[in-house]
Amino acid sequence: LFAGITVDPAFVVGPVRRRTFGSFVEHLGRCVYSGLHDPGHPTADADGFRGDVVDLVRELGVSAVRYPGGNFVSGYRWEDGVGARAQRPTRLDLAWHSTEPNTVGVDEFVRWARRAGVEPMMAVNLGTRGIQEALDLLEYCNVRGGTAWSDLRRANGAEEPHAIRMWCLGNEMDGPWQIGHKTAQEYGRLAAETARAMRQLQPDLELVACGSSGSGMPTFGEWERVVLGEAYDVVDLISAHAYYCEEDGDLASFLASALDMDQFIESVVATADAVRAARKATRRINLSFDEWNVWYVKRAESRPPTGDDWPIAPVLLEDRYNVADAVVVGSLLISLLRHTDRVHAASLAQLVNVIAPIMTEPGGRSWRQTTFHPFALTARHAAGEVLRIVVDAPVHDTARFGEVPAVDAVATYEPDTGGLVLFAVNRSTTEPVGLTVDLRGFPRLRIVEAVTLANPDHTWSATADDATTVLPRPNTSAAQDEDGVRVELPPVSWTMLRLD
Ligand code: AHR
Repeated sequence: LFAGITVDPAFVVGPVRRRTFGSFVEHLGRCVYSGLHDPGHPTADADGFRGDVVDLVRELGVSAVRYPGGNFVSGYRWEDGVGARAQRPTRLDLAWHSTEPNTVGVDEFVRWARRAGVEPMMAVNLGTRGIQEALDLLEYCNVRGGTAWSDLRRANGAEEPHAIRMWCLGNEMDGPWQIGHKTAQEYGRLAAETARAMRQLQPDLELVACGSSGSGMPTFGEWERVVLGEAYDVVDLISAHAYYCEEDGDLASFLASALDMDQFIESVVATADAVRAARKATRRINLSFDEWNVWYVKRAESRPPTGDDWPIAPVLLEDRYNVADAVVVGSLLISLLRHTDRVHAASLAQLVNVIAPIMTEPGGRSWRQTTFHPFALTARHAAGEVLRIVVDAPVHDTARFGEVPAVDAVATYEPDTGGLVLFAVNRSTTEPVGLTVDLRGFPRLRIVEAVTLANPDHTWSATADDATTVLPRPNTSAAQDEDGVRVELPPVSWTMLRLD
């Protein structure tokens, strides 16, 4: 098979936003406890946070991290997690049928975030709680001092405000599984009033209203319309969540998951813009795609405990990702970048152990899953502006999406340095694709790096014992002549091409 791509510096979609490379830490399974936090680990700091995990988070290139949930936040009392550890209550976490020791709370998380070099992004509980508790948490985090909550923060050791800019107004409130689940009307009113009050305390916050927890939700579309009908003037972003997996051995449809993400984003944009038009507003509402990933929801490890079993940090949602999963993660990043004009933030859900690129053994080793690599390389090298490119590729049939082009791609370009980076996937399950990149607009650029993630066995996954047999490797087929660049993309592969 052969495909062609034309790249032109004139066709700019918008800036590469660092917040596209966000992630998510929830009090869920072993994400926090025995993931980020493991006081017995040889690399643990004074708070108990693992240094090896911090190093991997830095290498992953994560920008902002959403915290503390997820479904967890809808039953969470943030006050339980501050102050002297010995006095912090132990609670039942109803969302994940677990016991929450409250050893880690907002102060520890913010210290961890500073150490990891990431921006903390906070979610408030609009499930069992409301405006007052959101205001209390905001005052605790962001007011310098001289008030009850801010002085408590200082007494707890944080002299400087946490200065958190981005706040999520609840989590997945459209989902019947959510504690305190609401209709769009109920949630829209609560989100609007919470946002209004929070802005009275701090006008320059960036506030995210809950959108749909999936494009397959029966209320999708109508939910966004009603929520934004209530909250348009007081929020900045609306969230979207999407998880994908290979179902019934249908690899071709799975590899094309980005088509669903494209359509999801474009539908939310259309709805937000329709509300804008009806209100005669000028400001646009953009998207925070603050949960996305591959997640094998139906696997046994995804089921929370039941009955009298309320464990602390159980093994939950610990997906082992294979090479095909990594190709899909790379292609979902291509979709997010392609929509950088309207997707202003995104969070890979989650960061450690729970549907995560980073895995840990309690007290022991940590390693990179296959999905780590396309994320880390995209986060490190995507820079400057996202370019709209034209892809001319052969199509193949899929059960879920009909005809799908074998190749999907996006490019970023830094006008100052002249660096061009192309990210491409071959979604064919069987055929290599010979790709030609027409570089008419960039006569002086030369290839500096071509790497591909692929494996004859696309079901290979990393383990603690072997996390390196399959890594992105130099793609030696990449060559350049006066017509542009040629490179061979193996079936089920993700490729990065850098030119300077
Ligand atoms: O990321 C795992 C869970 O998925 C989150 O808690 C929830 O928001 C979503 O349904």
